[in-house]
Amino acid sequence: MVALVEKTQKRLTIEVKDIATDTTAVRSLDWDRDRFDIEFGLQNGTTYNSFLIRGEKIALVDTSHEKFRQLYLDTLKGLINLTDIDYLIISHTEPDHSGLVKDMLQLAPEITVVGSKVAIQFLENLVHTPFKRQIVKNADKLDLGNGHELEFVIAPNLHWPDTIFTFDHKTETLYTCDAFGLHYCSDATFDEDLEAISPDYKYYYECLMAPNSRSVLSALKRMGELKKITTIATGHGPLLHHNVEELVQRYRTWSQTQAKAETSVGIFYVSEYGASDRLAQALANGITKTGVAVEMVDLGIAPDLQELRELVSRVAGIIIGMPPASEDANIQGALGTILGSANPKQAIGIFETGGGNDEPTYPLLNKFRALGLHVGFPVIEIRETPTENKYKLCEEAGTDLAQWVTRDKSIKAMKSLGADLDKALGRISGGLYIITAKKNDVQSAMLASWVMQASFKPLGFSVAVAKDRAIESLMQVGDKFVLNVLEEGNYQVLMKHFLKRFAPGADRFQGIRTQSAENGTPILADALAYMECEVASRLDAGDHWIVYCTVYAGKVSKPEGMTAVHHRKVGNHY
Ligand code: FEO
Repeated sequence: MVALVEKTQKRLTIEVKDIATDTTAVRSLDWDRDRFDIEFGLQNGTTYNSFLIRGEKIALVDTSHEKFRQLYLDTLKGLINLTDIDYLIISHTEPDHSGLVKDMLQLAPEITVVGSKVAIQFLENLVHTPFKRQIVKNADKLDLGNGHELEFVIAPNLHWPDTIFTFDHKTETLYTCDAFGLHYCSDATFDEDLEAISPDYKYYYECLMAPNSRSVLSALKRMGELKKITTIATGHGPLLHHNVEELVQRYRTWSQTQAKAETSVGIFYVSEYGASDRLAQALANGITKTGVAVEMVDLGIAPDLQELRELVSRVAGIIIGMPPASEDANIQGALGTILGSANPKQAIGIFETGGGNDEPTYPLLNKFRALGLHVGFPVIEIRETPTENKYKLCEEAGTDLAQWVTRDKSIKAMKSLGADLDKALGRISGGLYIITAKKNDVQSAMLASWVMQASFKPLGFSVAVAKDRAIESLMQVGDKFVLNVLEEGNYQVLMKHFLKRFAPGADRFQGIRTQSAENGTPILADALAYMECEVASRLDAGDHWIVYCTVYAGKVSKPEGMTAVHHRKVGNHY
């Protein structure tokens, strides 16, 4: 019981730390956050960072997640009389940073809320009572006195359309909210341990920023106009101070690579600051897994129609996130422009959130079909709060569409290797295995052949998994899965079943006999043997991940059975 209490107490803690002259960080530490969300894969918890800057006037940058309500507000009250705060700067309105804005306005009604136009509009709907506001544009300044001149940088799409950065000229600190952050909770306020944070930093970039690589490059350009940045005060994880140059450069390199990708898919949707954004993000994630770039456009903020036309004619695939039937002339105009610029070589996909049963998704899809576009995935309609399975379905749909738009390139690559080398490589053999994995309510499976034992102490093996496999997101460091070994002479049924192309979100285990592993992962009843394993590390190997796992349980059903072997003719594709 005592241990349980200690664990509960440890779950939500708060850190107060002076990080620069007149500047205090109030970091809400969420040690155990492990929600199944595309961006929470690495299981290291997260933090929500808020900052107090005291010049002659006082500004608070962002608040916290509502789960920290009591802890955060009590801590803040211990630092300052809340009514002494002059400005509340909203970097971005997602609830993990602005969950306590309403409380702040109730406790300090004279506070002036500072944010982008979009952020203030969103807050009006959230707060429902009048509040003082100051809308800021790029390069606008706010002087707090005592040298704390704040300069704002507009950074749309990092990670929602309303984002601004704030630069304090006195402390050379840039407040960036989601950008340059990571979901990593530890006692370290800063980034001393670069090696420890690097995997999460990259994973976070891939999930949240890669689909907006052009926006990242624009923000970096605007940041370049500021004087030296000594500290990047992020909204999640440790603040960047010891490795600012290196970590900013990583964003630049990754974004340039993304932006240069030959093939891209446009996601055109109406941001609702909630489900539709996350679904669009899941689709984007599925697309970027294949090496195809994504460009996201919020139709709700009236995009320039000429730019929209140019973008639509450049992309290889179009995904449209339909708002509930909208009379908004801007949205209708944008949809008309997309239709007018689409071409028959493209793929189309449509998803819809909210709304009733009479939504115009199918008529819209039919218009694209009539233009000759290929339907990349069946219409996704989400009427209720999306479940984990719906996010996974969207990810798989994104991958399917992206694989279709790159199909010619894949075939060309298969043919490009020299015939001899091709055949020689094909003589590397492997066994036949089915990997099964489950994470919360989502489960998946895949046929694997590139498996080999890799260590005795601990008992471990490696498996290579193509980056665009659906199961890949269930095989992050710390995830558990099962390796099922197929039996020589008795593998055809299982192999045929799992080689099938499954529709996005389809149940891979329908009609298959299974039992459950410790964590609920299906074990194939007709396999020769199985091992329960945990992912220890992953190595980037071009178009595959090499996943190294340790084994902690296993059984053989037939002691005399032999493992099925996979003999191939060529080595440049499966
Ligand atoms: Fe950390 Fe986009 O909120």
